[in-house]
Amino acid sequence: MRDVAIVGVGMTRFGELWETSLRDLFVQAASEALHSARADHLDAVFIGNMSAGQFVGQEHLGPLLVDHLGMAGVAAGRVESACASGGLALRTAFVEVASGMSDLVMAAGVEKMTDSIDVTEVLATASDQELEAYHGITFPGLYAMIARAHMEKHGTTEEDLSWVSVKNHRHGALNPKAQFPAEVTLEDVMRSSMVADPLRLLHCSPVSDGAAAVLLCPLDQAKKYTDRPVRIRASGLATGSMALADRKDIAFLDSVQLSAQRAYKMAGLTPADMHLAEVHDCFAIAEICCIEALGLVACGKGNAAARTGETALGGRIPVNTSGGLKSKGHPVGATGIAQAIELCEQLRGEAGARQVKGARIGLAQNMGGSGASSVVHIFEGI
Ligand code: COA
Repeated sequence: MRDVAIVGVGMTRFGELWETSLRDLFVQAASEALHSARADHLDAVFIGNMSAGQFVGQEHLGPLLVDHLGMAGVAAGRVESACASGGLALRTAFVEVASGMSDLVMAAGVEKMTDSIDVTEVLATASDQELEAYHGITFPGLYAMIARAHMEKHGTTEEDLSWVSVKNHRHGALNPKAQFPAEVTLEDVMRSSMVADPLRLLHCSPVSDGAAAVLLCPLDQAKKYTDRPVRIRASGLATGSMALADRKDIAFLDSVQLSAQRAYKMAGLTPADMHLAEVHDCFAIAEICCIEALGLVACGKGNAAARTGETALGGRIPVNTSGGLKSKGHPVGATGIAQAIELCEQLRGEAGARQVKGARIGLAQNMGGSGASSVVHIFEGI
């Protein structure tokens, strides 16, 4: 296998972007990525997208989007794993370059959610239809059950959940691309309207539009495109039971642990080697469960991490310096690529007010649905 680097990045602002279509979102992010690497060609494009067919009635994204980029003819296709579609697109591009199949490959993600009036139902198609969605449960409801289980087992409180949102909004306030870049207080979160008990509005990621793109090439060709390549040290992918009812312990995310173990093994690194992480905080409880399963904190101790500042900028292991899905936004197919971009900026020392001092190694974890799929990538600044 060849070593692989990211040599270009591009991303739209995330938000409710009425004036920009799905194809224009992709073209904006992809053009910026090409421009940042001074590249004028591509060998292949993999596009992470969960559900354009249902959100905006558009399938067959590969040819459509590369044509609008002015690159008809390039090998291209869509990659899907619900909210982990972006992470899976990155892994697919990584394997394409590492295997020697292609030299310059784009991994992109795009989602246009706010045009749909059925967002909650469309998202619920990523849960088990027979055991969950059919009975009316939604993703806020599924994560509410996970939160209740964590509360029962580990004594997690509503306040613990709320500190995750306070921290991520504090980080997101420093990110010009964030959908909700405003700080919120603990009181704001605890008084926001109840969505699915115990999860309130400000414990939830929003409904978002946006796109992100990165360019990958073999590490030994990276200097053609950039002075500051970021090496992809490892990629770990895993699955777990889809329905919560089929899991031994719903307060622990098996697929996240497995994907992380695979990535740590491939990189020859441990959780203690990570300088920062972007994790899948689609709901506040998800960040708590993910940092435990990634081994960044001990099992059952994730609930205190935001409150004590351990996972805040300046803390032992800053988590979601971008603002996370909560504040930056969660256009589902784009999320995994946006996480990689935050790490590239951090590891190149280009994250401005969000910069983690001395960051050299970081991890991104992107999850599908309520944790039935998880992708972990480990990056190293060179
Ligand atoms: N965080 C912060 N503010 C939010 C927000 C969020 N997650 N979602 C909406 N808002 C704001 C809106 O901007 C709006 O503000 P305004 O009144 O000043 O304009 C207000 O809150 C109400 O917005 P609205 O769109 O009516 O909220 P909603 O009740 O329809 O939706 C949620 C709120 C939480 C239900 C929705 O964002 C949601 O479903 N989130 C989860 C998405 C999801 O499941 N993703 C996949 C994860 S696996």
